[in-house]
Amino acid sequence: MSENMKRVLTGIRPTGPLHLGHYVGALKQWVLLQDEYECFFMIADVQALTTHAGNPKVIEESVRDVLLDFLAVGLDPTKPNVHFILQSAIPELAELTVYLSMVTPFTWMQSNPTIQQESKALGKGISTGFMCYPVSQAADILFVSPDPTESKEEILVPVGEDQVPHLRDTNSIVSAFNRTYSPTFNECKPLLGDYPRLVGTDGQLKMSKSLGNCINLGDDEKTVEKMVKGMFTDPNRIHPNDPGTVEGNPVFIYHDIFNPDKKEVCDLKKRYKDGTVGDVEVKEKLNVAIQSFLKPIRERRKHAEKMDIKKFLEDGTDFARGLAVKTLSRTRKAMHLDYPSLK
Ligand code: TRP
Repeated sequence: MSENMKRVLTGIRPTGPLHLGHYVGALKQWVLLQDEYECFFMIADVQALTTHAGNPKVIEESVRDVLLDFLAVGLDPTKPNVHFILQSAIPELAELTVYLSMVTPFTWMQSNPTIQQESKALGKGISTGFMCYPVSQAADILFVSPDPTESKEEILVPVGEDQVPHLRDTNSIVSAFNRTYSPTFNECKPLLGDYPRLVGTDGQLKMSKSLGNCINLGDDEKTVEKMVKGMFTDPNRIHPNDPGTVEGNPVFIYHDIFNPDKKEVCDLKKRYKDGTVGDVEVKEKLNVAIQSFLKPIRERRKHAEKMDIKKFLEDGTDFARGLAVKTLSRTRKAMHLDYPSLK
């Protein structure tokens, strides 16, 4: 690692394989950050337990999927400044969460809009772990905080719009802790991507495993082709010679993102509006574009499948743990938990 590189930390919950939505909303940007920053990419398995406590097998299997997906999109843990980390393997994070929770009014959790939205979707039976996960996420971020007496550098956190309330809570926790004790943590700052959200193949707002509207980064050619053929288009268009709507049409949203041949996209849009092209042709061309977008990803995945991927996670986690131990010792000291009076 380099002492003067700015730190970036972000995480993902391992609750299934990653899809095109993760790519455009997150991974694409993460790949670029590796050139400039000290990067921590966390697989947040403890956070996954906040919603999947009864289903640990899903998490266990997803950790491998996510690792392969990370490598497949071009994240590179062989670089000295890139660290893959596993949340549960850093027990210091759990301890830090407890300490941070003492300066976090519970009303902050209750009024966090993402918590409100997610708990509505989850319905009854929400756990305490779920209600308090923004505190645990604050610990995920703050363990890489430099000591404010040595550096004022903030921690950059690339995330989607839905995570902004959590980062706001993190910064409120930083102020509350530093005010109550002594300067211990620096603030974090969100880095928002260009396409925070990708519509599902069925036209729903978001790609999501539970909706079955995803194209996964690890899907084979046949599966992708089938998903593209079944895509939702303009529901009011019945015949290929009916004039169609391009705006908000998922097939064209994907063409704009994944088809590098802008002339072809422009021509398809024009013909679609005029009613001189059928859905079949539009989808066939989209399939070609997505398959070629996925080609290098598939090749890197094949290569990664032969590697000792566990080692990447162990090395990154070991390195991160070194930082966590330091941060925790600073935190305990600030809270007088090092018991100078007993020494
Ligand atoms: N909450 C994030 C999500 O659901 C995952 C996450 C866990 C995270 N810890 C983090 C994101 C720390 C940024 C920083 O996508």
